[in-house]
Amino acid sequence: MEEVLTVKANINENDLKALNSSFDNDYLGTWANLAKENIFFKETFNEILDESDKPHYKWFLGGKTNISYNCLDVHLKDKANKTALIFEDELGEAQTLTYKELHEKVVKFSAYLRDLGIRKGDRICIYMSLCPESIIAIQACLRIGAIHSVVFAGFSAHALRDRINELEAKLLITQNAFIRRNKKVELFKFAREALTENQSVTDLILFDRVTGDTELDEDTNALKKSLDIKIHKPIQDLLADKYADIQNLTTLEPEWLESNETSFILYTSGSTGKPKGIEHGTSGYILWAKLSTNWVFDLKDEDVYWCTADIGWITGHTYVTYGPLANGATQVIYEGAPNFPDKNQFWNLIEKYKVSIFYTAPTAIRAFEQWGLEHIEKHDLSSLRLLGSVGEPIGSETWKWFYENIGKSKCPIVDTWWQTETGGIMISTLPGVQTAKPGIAGPALPGIHAEISEDSLLHISKPWPSMLKGIYKNPERYKKAYWSLIEDSYLPGDLATIDEDSYICIGGRNDDVINISGHRLGTAEIETALAKHVSVLESAVVAIPHKIKGQGLVCFVVSNNNSGDLSNLLTAHIASEIGAHAKPERVIACAALPKTRSGKVMRRLLQDLAQGKDISGDISTLEDKSVLEAIKSRI
Ligand code: PRX
Repeated sequence: MEEVLTVKANINENDLKALNSSFDNDYLGTWANLAKENIFFKETFNEILDESDKPHYKWFLGGKTNISYNCLDVHLKDKANKTALIFEDELGEAQTLTYKELHEKVVKFSAYLRDLGIRKGDRICIYMSLCPESIIAIQACLRIGAIHSVVFAGFSAHALRDRINELEAKLLITQNAFIRRNKKVELFKFAREALTENQSVTDLILFDRVTGDTELDEDTNALKKSLDIKIHKPIQDLLADKYADIQNLTTLEPEWLESNETSFILYTSGSTGKPKGIEHGTSGYILWAKLSTNWVFDLKDEDVYWCTADIGWITGHTYVTYGPLANGATQVIYEGAPNFPDKNQFWNLIEKYKVSIFYTAPTAIRAFEQWGLEHIEKHDLSSLRLLGSVGEPIGSETWKWFYENIGKSKCPIVDTWWQTETGGIMISTLPGVQTAKPGIAGPALPGIHAEISEDSLLHISKPWPSMLKGIYKNPERYKKAYWSLIEDSYLPGDLATIDEDSYICIGGRNDDVINISGHRLGTAEIETALAKHVSVLESAVVAIPHKIKGQGLVCFVVSNNNSGDLSNLLTAHIASEIGAHAKPERVIACAALPKTRSGKVMRRLLQDLAQGKDISGDISTLEDKSVLEAIKSRI
């Protein structure tokens, strides 16, 4: 069905053959050559891979580099006046920044951070919306070797507080508010709450994202006064004012980090109640961010690239903040919802900016499909030449809809499988060589050894440069969660099958991690949040299929609260503990949960009930069968 890109793709059939045979002949040597060709090292590395402390593999040992330098400075000679960022918000306010302008702002901001005492290895929490200033803040941290940890702006004060506390962050960078669907989201209010009883944060930098709102200004000032930490000038002043006069500003020497020093920590959900701080290194990460962006998206100098992910998730890191910039691309960033001010919003932007590469998530595609073709047909989408999907299985029907209605049956689709932990795309077709099969991600990328075990467990059998360094402050959890089932193989937790062409089809998760609108959450995390509520004695959370979100949550709760308002109460509680994206579809009060004789909750049975199915499988271990009947009567 789909044509491959035959016209001068960055990777053509011969390149792919050559790359694969080079990896076959000399795996490490090939990575080393790619690193030398693609990354600027201040000091070259002296060992390609150190396996002595595996699974804490170390890549490009002894090499010194800086990620921000590789994203910005390297373009100053040839691309200084090329547009790096095209930003638009939902009110239509637009702004563009060239590589030179972006570089200047990043240098200014990093000079300020250095001046206020931030040093290599310090942790900085960033709680902001997607806008140029958040990208500048991230890049500025990288430039001075401070470890940034972005917390998605949809996360609650509680979630932010937990992350700040574990990180022992010194500085919080946040903003007064942002506007989404015409509503003010007062981020600073949440941030203020998160800082209650905080021990580590000494400094706060605020971005006055929303201006001209007296009420907001008053609230913000009052909140500022209630804080006993140093509050600096707003970002816009730091970037604009005389601070530019500081010595050596334009030549501010970046901090040269050893390849394995941490660049960022991003929290993601696992199968326990506590999210994991995924720690990424420096050289290997930026190498793969750059290469995979170039190979998979076939990025050309003239392309206008748009990835719709938020900076709060890994896609917004690798394929917004790093990969496109490392390749010197022009990219669109958009702060807002796809259906505001109306359902034309994305198509307006594609038409207006002549977007050629569009990378989004199946949950968004399913929503476009439901909103109807009338929003799409009004627009000229002929600039598009490549489409991408990420975050959850796209399914063959949604794939076909995307291909026919957005790509007009002429744009290849890359269905990219990867995770926070892998740092970059691991499985995808290459658009110049391989034809996509609807709903099937594709082969492993060159250099990536993805395999499927007999029991359908996807695993990666060789270390790769952008792999996580580990879990922050928890080396044992790192080993147990990813490396304990198959010897010397990384286990992502996904199930998959592989066909005769080595195309890998991702099935679903092998653990209790679920995917709501492409957002990863653990059922145990929701249960832990529920357990904090006085009305909850016990709970079990299961996933159900959802037409738009992919999956939704159903919470079975044993409660001492018979007020009839339990559902609203607990839905609000989950939003406040985690974030609005974790809100359940249903809360079902029950007298007891189905358990085995040894007291283990039989989630499998609840899953069947939540999905309206008959109970399948063995129930001989169930202690009390009447519990099931009682729950059934409540569904
Ligand atoms: O289950 C897989 C699913 O999303 C998980 C990773 O989530 P996260 O770390 O939040 O990163 C999302 C963006 C990379 C995976 O373990 N997933 C991701 N991409 C796909 C996918 N499932 C099927 N097909 C994909 N293309």
